[in-house]
Amino acid sequence: MSGANRYLVSFDAREMLHRFTDILIIGAGIAGIRAALEIPSDLSVLVVTKDRVTESNSSYAQGGIAGVLSPEDTFENHVEDTLIAGDGLCDRAVVEMVVHEAPHQIDKLIEFGTRFDEENGQLALTREGGHSHRRIVHALGDSTGFEVMRATIAYARSRPNIRIWDETFTIDLLTHEGRCCGAIVARSGPDKLLVWAKQVILASGGCGMVYRETTNPPVATGDGMAAAYRAGAELRDMEFMQFHPTVLYVAGSARYLISEAVRGEGAYLRDVHGERFMLREDPRAELAPRDVVARAIFRTMERTQHPNVYLDLSHLDPQMVVNRFPGINRVCKSFGLDITRDRIPVRPGAHYMIGGVTVDRHGRTTVPGLWAAGEVTSSGLHGANRLASNSLIEGLVYGTLCGRGAAEAARRMPPAMTAWPLRYTIAPSEDDTRLDIADLTASLRSLMVRKMGIVRDRSRLLEAKEDLRFWCRYALRREFDGKAGWELQNMLTVARLMVAAALTREESRGTHFRSDYPQRDDARWGQRHVTSEPFVAL
Ligand code: SIN
Repeated sequence: MSGANRYLVSFDAREMLHRFTDILIIGAGIAGIRAALEIPSDLSVLVVTKDRVTESNSSYAQGGIAGVLSPEDTFENHVEDTLIAGDGLCDRAVVEMVVHEAPHQIDKLIEFGTRFDEENGQLALTREGGHSHRRIVHALGDSTGFEVMRATIAYARSRPNIRIWDETFTIDLLTHEGRCCGAIVARSGPDKLLVWAKQVILASGGCGMVYRETTNPPVATGDGMAAAYRAGAELRDMEFMQFHPTVLYVAGSARYLISEAVRGEGAYLRDVHGERFMLREDPRAELAPRDVVARAIFRTMERTQHPNVYLDLSHLDPQMVVNRFPGINRVCKSFGLDITRDRIPVRPGAHYMIGGVTVDRHGRTTVPGLWAAGEVTSSGLHGANRLASNSLIEGLVYGTLCGRGAAEAARRMPPAMTAWPLRYTIAPSEDDTRLDIADLTASLRSLMVRKMGIVRDRSRLLEAKEDLRFWCRYALRREFDGKAGWELQNMLTVARLMVAAALTREESRGTHFRSDYPQRDDARWGQRHVTSEPFVAL
C-alpha cells in the first residue's frame, strides 16, 4: 500500500520511557494467555491489552471448543469435517496437528481451573454446523469463552513472571534491521512508551469492527494485522471474512450472537412466512457449514424482501432450552422474547477473520523475532471457511507453540537487551482541517457491508477500492494522538487489504462468494493467496 506512514506516530527513542521484558505478548485473549502460560518462570513476560483484560473475542465465545472426546468419534472424522468446511484450502498437516492436540489442550484448560458443563459425570458434548459428531465442550451453557478466560487469566495472574497491563494500546511493532524488537505502546492516554523484548508474540485478535454488523466487541479493529503489515509481515487470505448466520436482529440491541449450538440442539430456521427454507437448500439443512447457511439466509431475505429470518425453538423441550442457553435466554427476554415460544429474529453478521498474518507450523511470522497466534493469523487451519468451534482450539494450540518457540529463541539471545536509538517523524499535515473520526469510521463500516458483504462482484468491489483509496489518502498520512484515530487507520488498512484480495480471487469458495464468478475454480484458485499489496512507507 503506497503513501502510508511506517509508524502511526512520531517518536524519538532517546526521549522516551523504556521497559524491557524477555517476551512481549500483544493481546490477552485465549491465544495470548495460553502463550504466556507456556513460558518458563525464569523468563519475564509482559502481556498488553488495549481494553480491560476481559474484553476479547475469546471471552464472548458462546458455542465451545471442538475436540475428539467421545468413543464414537475419531480424529479422522474431525479432520475430515474441518477439510470439508474449509472448501479445498485447508493445510492438511496443520489440520491434523491441531485436531490431534485438541483433547490435550482441553485437559490443560481443566487443569488451569476451567469448569466445563457435564452430563452424568462426563464432559457434555454438543454439535454445531459442519460437525458429523457431538464433539464440542461448553461451559455455563452458552458462555464458554467467559468461563475459559476467567480460569486462564486467574491462573496467569498467579504466575510471578507474568505481568498483565490492561488499557495499553499497541500503536506499532518496533523493527530494527528487519527484526522485531518490541512495540510502541500508549498506556491510559496518549503518553507513549517503548517496550523492548527479545521476542514478540502477536495475539491481538480479529477485525470484525470493519463491518457495521458484527458479533465482535468494539476492540476488534484489526490493530495487530495492520501493525504487522506496517512492520513488513506477510498477510494472507484476507478475502475470507466469515459471517455468522444468526445474529439477533431487533432494533436497539447490540448485534448479539445466537450460538450455532442452538441449531446443534435442534432449532429450525424459518423465513417470514414460516417456511423451513434450509430443507431445500442443503441436505444437512440447519447444520450445513456456516458459509452455506449464511448465504441461504441472505438469498431468503432477498426473496422474501424481509430484513431477517427466524430461529424457532418452540418444538424443543422448554426446560432443556432454558438450562442449555441461559445467556441467550436472558438477552432475548430483555427484548420481550420468550425463546421457548417466540421466533427469534436473526440475520448474518461479520464474525471471524480467517485471513491474517502468515504463520508457519511453529507460529513464526515472516518477520524475525515476531510470532503470532489466534485470529490475527492465517495458519492454514480454516481454509476458506472455519468449522464452528475450531477457533479457540487454534488459539490454544498456536498459543502453546508460540510460547514455547519464543521462549527457546529468547534463551538463545544475549542476556543484555539493547534499546536502539530509533526515531520517526511524521510531517505535520498541510491541511489542519479536523477529521471527524466517528463519521469516517461509520462510513467505512457501512461501505464494507454494502460492497464487501456476503455476496460480492467486481463492480461493487472496484467502487469499494476507490472509496478506500480516497479515504486512505488523507487519513493515513495524518498523525492522531489517541485510540479512535489509530483504530480508524488500522481498520482502513485492513479493509483495503480485504477488498484487494476479494477482487483478485475470481471464483467463489467458502466465505468468499462472487456473483460474477459463482463457481469454485480449482485450476486457477486452488491455493491460498498472499496479499497483493506489499506495504510501502512514505
Ligand atoms: C457459536 O457459538 O455459534 C460461535 C462458535 C464459533 O464461532 O466457533
